Amino acid sequence: MIIGILKETGNENRVALLPGEVSVLKKMGIEILVEQNVGERAFAFDKDYQTAGAVTADRKEIISKSALLLSINPPLTDDINSFKEGQVLCSVLNPVENKAWLEKARMRNLTVFALDLVPRTTRAQSMDILSSMATVSGYKAVLEAASMLPRFFPMFMSAAGTIKPAKVLILGAGVAGLQAIAISRKLGAIVEVFDVRAAVKEEVKSLGGKFIEVVGSKEDVAAGGYAVEQTDVFKKKQQDLIQQRAIASDVVIATAQIPGKKAPILLLKETVSYMKPGSVIIDLAASSGGNCELTENGKNIVINGVNIIGKSDYPSDMPTDASKMFGCNVINFLKIMVDKDGNLVLNMTDEIINGTAAVHNKEYISQRIRQMLNIK
Ligand code: NAI
Repeated sequence: MIIGILKETGNENRVALLPGEVSVLKKMGIEILVEQNVGERAFAFDKDYQTAGAVTADRKEIISKSALLLSINPPLTDDINSFKEGQVLCSVLNPVENKAWLEKARMRNLTVFALDLVPRTTRAQSMDILSSMATVSGYKAVLEAASMLPRFFPMFMSAAGTIKPAKVLILGAGVAGLQAIAISRKLGAIVEVFDVRAAVKEEVKSLGGKFIEVVGSKEDVAAGGYAVEQTDVFKKKQQDLIQQRAIASDVVIATAQIPGKKAPILLLKETVSYMKPGSVIIDLAASSGGNCELTENGKNIVINGVNIIGKSDYPSDMPTDASKMFGCNVINFLKIMVDKDGNLVLNMTDEIINGTAAVHNKEYISQRIRQMLNIK
């Protein structure tokens, strides 16, 4: 089988596979075609890919020769017309945002795997791209906040007096939030945390954070470990408590998401007006609407001296390790779809393959995608 790696478009700095991961696929009997300069923004150059056994080709040739095309972001809508029926695409889809793209791919009878739909199960853990990228985001968010804050993170006792540690408030203790807690603590800050899932309380404590509980949250086992939308009464209670804690904080890292829905608003405009000038809000949920009422996706704004950073693409700012993690996850995913001779074998009854298949044979396959797109 030939796998083609497409060059990302727009501002994306990552690449779906680095040369190290190309070598792994070669050993599995797979041929690799890469677009010219495919990895240069992640500091991986064509000669490195060639040394690893890949062949450089132009986009048209890659599309026409590859059985499977790999990219981080979905290929352009215009590309879909040049794909062949039955060709397989793997990328991070954001199905709700890319509904029209996906419908076009379905009509063209392409098979599309949405890597963001890999089930959150123990068996699929090594393929979990969302966790890998959230790890990068949580780490980078704290570093950015620390560098913007006009204060130290750790406590200092020096001849020039005592400096109190910074206070960091984390909203949402999923993968990104937990990473943000760990890094904030390593830098010496005091950390407080909100989440609606009681299950994370112990994890937060073990990382040295203080879990602030809001009684009455709604949880649903059918949501597969994800959060669900809360009642209005709970939202009001939570917003009030978050306001109290945010006013006392120097940094807020907001990570709360509900899959397939707009992110919950946790930090109100009024709350920001009471926050300390110089404080920093990093809103990682910006691309799905933001946890702060004032967040503007892709922008840094300052309101009453409070910096509000609406940024959901930190992994692109750390392209080497983010691409490395992405590629490792992809290889683990491909291993369940490739036989010992390097040929593609799609077993649609496998729970991971089935759960990740967005469209195949002109049908929407994954149960989650059907729910997200409201397909009966
Ligand atoms: P996410 O990105 O969907 O959301 C981030 C966090 O925000 C979650 O902890 C969520 O509970 C929280 N949140 C949502 N609404 C909120 C609100 N109104 N107020 C406060 N917090 C709110 O989460 P992520 O990181 O994708 O993880 C989701 C679930 O998947 C977790 O249960 C996690 O443990 C699980 N997971 C399982 C894996 C596996 O078994 N392979 C791998 C990674 C995650």
